[in-house]
Amino acid sequence: MNQAGLRVTIDDIREEVADLETPEERIAYLIELGQTVPDLPTQYRTEDYRVVGCQSMVWLVPTLDGSKIHFRGSSDAPMVRGLVAILLAAYSGHKADDFLAFRVNEFFDELKLTSFLTPMRSNGLHSMVQRIQAIARGASLANAPDVTSPKQLTGYRVTLPAIPIDSCRDDFPILSEKLPCGKPWAYLDNAASSQRPSSVIDCMNRVYRTHYANVHRSGHQLAAQTTAAMEEAREAICSWLHADSSSQIIFTPGTTASINLVARSWGDTHLKPGDEIVLTEMEHHSNIVPWQQLAQRTGAQIRWLGVRDDFHLDIESLESILNSRTKLVALTAVSNVLGTINPVRSIVDAAHRVGAKVLVDAAQSVPHGKVSPAEWDADWVVFSGHKMLGPTGIGVLYGKQEILESMPPFLGGGNMIKSVTKAGFVPADLPHRFEAGTGPIVEAIAMKPALEYLMRVGSEAILQHERRLAKRAIEGLSSIRGLRVLGPSIESKTGIVSFVVPGIHSDQIGQYLNASAVAIRVGHHCAMPLHERFGIGVSARASFYFYNTEAEVDAFVAATIRACEL
Ligand SMILES: Cc1ncc(COP(=O)(O)O)c(C=O)c1O
Repeated sequence: MNQAGLRVTIDDIREEVADLETPEERIAYLIELGQTVPDLPTQYRTEDYRVVGCQSMVWLVPTLDGSKIHFRGSSDAPMVRGLVAILLAAYSGHKADDFLAFRVNEFFDELKLTSFLTPMRSNGLHSMVQRIQAIARGASLANAPDVTSPKQLTGYRVTLPAIPIDSCRDDFPILSEKLPCGKPWAYLDNAASSQRPSSVIDCMNRVYRTHYANVHRSGHQLAAQTTAAMEEAREAICSWLHADSSSQIIFTPGTTASINLVARSWGDTHLKPGDEIVLTEMEHHSNIVPWQQLAQRTGAQIRWLGVRDDFHLDIESLESILNSRTKLVALTAVSNVLGTINPVRSIVDAAHRVGAKVLVDAAQSVPHGKVSPAEWDADWVVFSGHKMLGPTGIGVLYGKQEILESMPPFLGGGNMIKSVTKAGFVPADLPHRFEAGTGPIVEAIAMKPALEYLMRVGSEAILQHERRLAKRAIEGLSSIRGLRVLGPSIESKTGIVSFVVPGIHSDQIGQYLNASAVAIRVGHHCAMPLHERFGIGVSARASFYFYNTEAEVDAFVAATIRACEL
């Protein structure tokens, strides 16, 4: 008997199926084989171990023993339990590298045990194999002989070599695009949206060209492959965020959509007249307007945590703002205008002390690859893919499991239900409950190569490089008379440099820079209350990223100086 509790080996199965002739005999065999799978204790029949993409409930539970991985598993469908038995016999007790070398499809073909399966069952089998292989990949790269938690085994590790900052530009095709005059663009509008490496563009292209189909529904192999790729991306994000379960990762169209989802679903359920919502003066409109709308709907009040003259939050006044009426604090981890990195954990702790929930807008944190809901103890964390090398139209809502489970669905439609009758509907489990309709499938899949690229460059390297460029820019701009940089000292911010020059409209600067092939942003950057706080209407903003160069900073500084001399 192996550690999976199975008595049969792969060779036994080979021998036994050799005599089976008809599909009916094979079905009967699978059902009989399924009965040999030992019972899986209920503590393992959870979302953590469930294989997404199977029509029936299937659980696979890995444990690491030295370099070997043992599996237990089960299903609520008798025939699927037979398939689980074959997978356990094939994989359990072997080394991760052997898993990856094992030609599982050929093996099933040889057994002739799957040719009669319905497309839905085939999809499920494919999902099980994908799950096992993902676990094997995680384990083979874990470098951690003492890994004992099954969850850790499913972790997402990047094995590809690190990418040195000075060699990454060639990976971004757009960065070599030139104006008709032959000048290359200096793209310094990264806080609005980053550019994408070829790996992300190629991934989207590959999916559309080779296996695109709608996910979670159709019963064919293409759908299974696309569903598995989407779920792999979800797993990757889950692991990157150190979340406990991929069911806490909800794909949305972006930060704005994620915030609106929480405001509608959680906010409409929990807020009442007299309750308070605390926002900071440095929020993006995306983290203001949905709460103002919620306040209008419910009669709740909004209170504001101010920004000090040194461009940091006025933390000292927080205790006097929070009180037993505070139900929610929504704040950005990094300001999209000032670049200020906020002390999220201490604000979360203070909010939790009065019983409030906290939503963290991480839209400007993800470009640096450093986001940890657990370290922040945030109740929700939201971000967009397009600011972290990923596609547009895709974002994430992370939430604490028990909070997400308590939230009613926001959008209704296909994909978000367990069942529908004329009398009503039963919502699906997480995360699908919040993913109504056909979402940005290919965009979600391409989040994985985006994340991979980000991790290969490394969050420390990204931040240090951005700061080096921001410092160079600020020093260069300092020769402009009266120029005021909006933002704290370099060590407490990211590579965002916003500024105003007395008597010169930011538009003039933006126009001149555009003509000089330098792309920056001018305006209020969707942060009007922040501009109002500093007595200005608009500002100019250059935002640097790891693929920018000192030469681009110098071009920006020179063009800005000329624009101010006009
Ligand atoms: C801090 C912050 N929050 C929210 C958003 C909105 O993101 P999206 O437009 O991707 O929904 C942005 C975008 O600039 C941002 O910088």
